[in-house]
Amino acid sequence: MAEHKQAAFSSKVGLIMAAAGSAVGLGNIWKFPYIAGENGGGAFLIVYLLCVVGFGLPLVMTEFLIGKRSGRSAYGAFKELNGNNRWQWLSWLCMLTAFLIMGFYFVVTGWCVSYLTEALGNAFHDLDTTALSSHFAAVASDVPRMVLFSCLAVVLTGAVLWFEVNKGIERLSKILMPLLLLMMLLMAGRVLMLDGSNIGMRFFFQTDFTKITPKVIMEAMGQCFFSLSIGMGALITYGAYMPKNQNVARTSVQVIILDTLVAILAGLIIFPAVFAFGFDPAEGPQLVFVVLPAIFEQMSFSWLSSVLFFGLLCIAALTSTISLMEVAVAFVNEASNGKLNRQKSVLIVSACVMVLIVLCVLSGTVFDALDEVTSCIMMPLGALGMCMFVGWNLPKKGTKGMLYADRGIRHWFGKIYIAALRWVVPAAIILIFLNSIGVL
Ligand code: PHE
Repeated sequence: MAEHKQAAFSSKVGLIMAAAGSAVGLGNIWKFPYIAGENGGGAFLIVYLLCVVGFGLPLVMTEFLIGKRSGRSAYGAFKELNGNNRWQWLSWLCMLTAFLIMGFYFVVTGWCVSYLTEALGNAFHDLDTTALSSHFAAVASDVPRMVLFSCLAVVLTGAVLWFEVNKGIERLSKILMPLLLLMMLLMAGRVLMLDGSNIGMRFFFQTDFTKITPKVIMEAMGQCFFSLSIGMGALITYGAYMPKNQNVARTSVQVIILDTLVAILAGLIIFPAVFAFGFDPAEGPQLVFVVLPAIFEQMSFSWLSSVLFFGLLCIAALTSTISLMEVAVAFVNEASNGKLNRQKSVLIVSACVMVLIVLCVLSGTVFDALDEVTSCIMMPLGALGMCMFVGWNLPKKGTKGMLYADRGIRHWFGKIYIAALRWVVPAAIILIFLNSIGVL
C-alpha cells in the first residue's frame, strides 16, 4: 500500500488561503480585465459568473476530493484510486498543461517584476496615455530584460519548491493577500471618483445580450478554468494536504468566492479608469500595464501606492507559479520513481520552462497560442477527463463514499453534484467547444 501524505495543514484556514493563493493571481488582475475588455464587458461578466457556478464548483470539489481521497499528487492520484494505469494519460495532460501555462505565465510575471523596478524608480511619473502604451511595447520587446526578469521568477519559484518552504510563503501570503485586497479596494474607490468613470461601470455591468457569441462563451469558460486553477491537477495537491475533517464543498465555495471577488474588483478598477483616461478596453494583454500606472498618478502617495501594488502583484503571481511548478516537479519526481529527487526535478523543470520563456518573449504568436490553447482546450479537456474519472469510472459508491465521507454534505447536494459530474459538466464542455469551432 502506497504511503499517504500526512495532512500538512493544521488549520482549515491555512488550506483555504493556500488554495486561494493558487487561484488568485495574474489570471484575476491581468487576464480577467483584458479578456472581459475584448469580449464585450458586461456580456462576458455574466457568462463568466455562470461558468464559475456551473463548472467552478463541481470541478474544484472534484479535484479536492481526488486529492483528499488518494493523498497523492496529480501523478499518483488516478492510479491510486483506480488501481490501474488506464487513467495515467490524465496525469500526463496535467503535467503538460502546467508546463505550457508556465511558459507565458512567467513572462507576465516578468512584466510585473519589471514594472515593480520601474515603480521604485518613479518611471511612470508624467507619462500620458500614448506614452504609457509605447512604454509597455518597449518593455515587452526588450528581450534580454524580459528573459532575465522572467527567469528570476522561475528561480524564486524553484527555490521555494527546492527548500520546501511553501509553508513560509503561505504564512506570508496570509498577511499579504488581505493587504492586496485592501489596496484594490482603495484603488477602486479612487477610480470611481474620476470623471467619466460611470461609462466604464456601464461597460462592465450592463449586459448587452446580443454580444454573447460562441467566442465569448468559450473565452469565459477558459478564463473560469484558468482563474480557478482547475483542469490541470494543481488543486489535487492541495486536496492531498487537506485535514481529514475539512469539508470539501464549503472549502470549494470559499475559494471560489475569494477568487471571483478579486476578479470583479480588478474589473471595477480597470474599466472606469479605461474610459476616464481614454484607453481602449480591447487593448489586449497590455491593458492593465498601461492603465494601472495612469491610476497611480491620480492617487495620493503615488510612488508608495505603485510600489506596494506591483510588489503585491508579484507575490500573488508567485503563489500561483508555486502551485503550477509543483504539478510538474511532482510528476518528474514520481514518474522517475524517485530516481530524480525533488531538487533534481526542480532543476529539470526550471531549465525546460526557461527555454519556453525565451520562445514566448521572442514571439507574441507563441505567447498567445500557449495562453489560448491551455485555457480553451487543455484545461477543459483535463476537466472533462476528471469528470469522467470520478463520475463514471469510479464505482458510484466510490464517488458517493468520497463525498459523504465528508461531514456536512447533504444528500440532495450530493445527488446534484454527481449528476453535474456525470452529465451536465461534460455535456456543457463538449457543446461549448463544438459551438465555438462552428460545428453546432
Ligand atoms: N489561477 C491562477 C491565476 O489566476 C493561474 C493558475 C492556473 C495557477 C493553473 C495554477 C494552475 O493567476
